[in-house]
Amino acid sequence: MLNTNVRMQSAGNSKLNALVEEMAALCQPDQIYWCDGTQEEYDRLCEDMVRGGTFIKLNQEKRPGSYLCRSHPGDVARVEHRTFICSKTKEDAGPTNNWADPTEMRQTLRGIFSGCMRGRTMYVVPFSMGPLGSDIAHIGIQITDSAYAVVNMRIMTRMGSQVLDILGDSGEFVPCIHSVGAPLEPGQEDVPWPCNPDQKYIVQFPDEREIWSYGSGYGGNALLGKKCFALRIASVMAREEGWLAEHMLLLGLESPQGEKTYVGAAFPSACGKTNLAMIIPPKGFEGWKAWTVGDDIAWIKPSADGQFRAINPEAGYFGVAPGTSEKTNPNAMKLVESNTIFTNVALTDDGDVWWEGMTDEPPAHLTDWQGNEWTPDCGRVAAHPNARFTAPASSCPTLDPAWDDPKGVPVSAFIFGGRMSHTFPLVFQSYDWDHGVYLAATMGSEATAAAENQAAVRRDPMAMLPFCGYNMADYWGHWLSLKDKVKNPPLIFRVNWFRKDANGKFIWPGFGQNMRALSWIIDRVHGRADAVESPFGFMPRQSDLQLDGLDMETSAFEALMKIDRLSALNEINDQSSLFKRFGSRVPEALLGQQNSVRERVEKADSVWHPGA
Ligand code: GTP
Ligand code: SPV
Ligand code: MN
Repeated sequence: MLNTNVRMQSAGNSKLNALVEEMAALCQPDQIYWCDGTQEEYDRLCEDMVRGGTFIKLNQEKRPGSYLCRSHPGDVARVEHRTFICSKTKEDAGPTNNWADPTEMRQTLRGIFSGCMRGRTMYVVPFSMGPLGSDIAHIGIQITDSAYAVVNMRIMTRMGSQVLDILGDSGEFVPCIHSVGAPLEPGQEDVPWPCNPDQKYIVQFPDEREIWSYGSGYGGNALLGKKCFALRIASVMAREEGWLAEHMLLLGLESPQGEKTYVGAAFPSACGKTNLAMIIPPKGFEGWKAWTVGDDIAWIKPSADGQFRAINPEAGYFGVAPGTSEKTNPNAMKLVESNTIFTNVALTDDGDVWWEGMTDEPPAHLTDWQGNEWTPDCGRVAAHPNARFTAPASSCPTLDPAWDDPKGVPVSAFIFGGRMSHTFPLVFQSYDWDHGVYLAATMGSEATAAAENQAAVRRDPMAMLPFCGYNMADYWGHWLSLKDKVKNPPLIFRVNWFRKDANGKFIWPGFGQNMRALSWIIDRVHGRADAVESPFGFMPRQSDLQLDGLDMETSAFEALMKIDRLSALNEINDQSSLFKRFGSRVPEALLGQQNSVRERVEKADSVWHPGA
């Protein structure tokens, strides 16, 4: 007979109790544990993991309440090629998703989940994406055999028995079934990071609103509230119900006069959302304040008063560690001072953490992310490039007072940007909503390691390529349809922090200096800033941007802002290969936009520039 703790009897939701019973019968865990979400429970699970070798307790003077975890070297990131959308038909998933027949997939999953939790505890994790009880929020129940997933879910979501109280006897929830896929035979010793090196499945059933994940313990593969629920499943819910689930940070910018303007910004993974979400206005912007609502996901709904209001469905940050420093993101450095779980960073000799880019000079000796001796000359990185920190929103020094408001915050602008070493200027504004949707849909980004100009571009529409739970062309249509749902749709902008000069160096200093582009965006929102018409959209002249104190030569500004006809035509032609994949499903409006931009580029100077 299975051991269960008291909560088993007190959960009145029959659908939930049936799910737990069914999963226990299938997965055959040694025991079932219902998570209550208390600090005491969190501490106990962390200490258990310290004893079991999964966690290393960091120096409590330097990093109070913080732990280091090292994953299996084969389980370090999301696995897009093992991520499936199991809609009724392949067309509903679209050409950019892996589709699998839902009936066959269920059979496969039944097979691999059978007995998969033997020798382990099955945790039942009730969580809310969004403020408890908000009508924008939704409830999920994660069933998992990973204590690492449980403690991370406690940071990343509102997790615990209060969620069961809201769920009540008949409330709806999204089942999120997760196993690391590493059952233990009697007497078999556990490893620090159990996972399944041979088989991984990250499966979404959009029609049934259900998630099954097998074989991985890492990030978006295992913290199922995040990408699986809040993006893939939620995007499907959003289409049905007339809202948006987006891979966006949410940021509020407050002027010295106290005027607050919220923007949502979508950049592909590892392209600077956490940095921008925690931006510190630089010299020249005295009196401005930047407030963080979210750094990765936004749920955005048309409200009764005719505007888009957005919430961050998460309650913590799962941020990329490498590159984070006092220079690039001082707020994130404060965020991770305490109560943080670090995964795959390096360990210093005095029990603290280090990663590439944290300091100019690396420490003379470290233990690397795989537990090996490390010295600066050893030729290996000390932290994995996708090493992450998990930290609660409440530790963020710039957390917006409205971040937890069940009504959400009003959004005035959407910003889209990839990593493009060429072709795209620092900032421009779409001519209208449809043009903005086109700019977002055709967004591309270069592989992070690409140093050369004209590097391969991966199209990542709305930064949602790995996260849209249905046919991307229908998603574009959904975006187009939303302009009629609000009185004044948000203005839409494209930005590019990553343009490079002929020597391969970034032209724009980026990070805090991005405030200069943001401030033009805000002034456009409030009808205060001028712009000229370019082939790509409205653009600022040099004098329309606040560039005081930046020390940027006019020639550098020209290189940053110019539109080169040949590069632009290459770009426009290249977009056709994206559209072709969707055939007749591509909304006419987007093809029309593509023709218009081509005409504008052909008519313009061979090197167009906004001027001074
Ligand atoms: P996910 O959590 O994966 O969704 O990604 P994210 O968008 O939050 O990524 P993150 O903020 O961690 O991106 C970090 C990377 O972007 C690092 O390589 C940074 O150096 C780089 N980055 C961020 N902002 C800027 C910028 O303004 N300029 C330049 N050149 N690089 C930047
Ligand atoms: C991303 O890859 O966009 C992330 C990290 O935010 S993960 O949660 O692992 O997907
Ligand atoms: Mn992300």
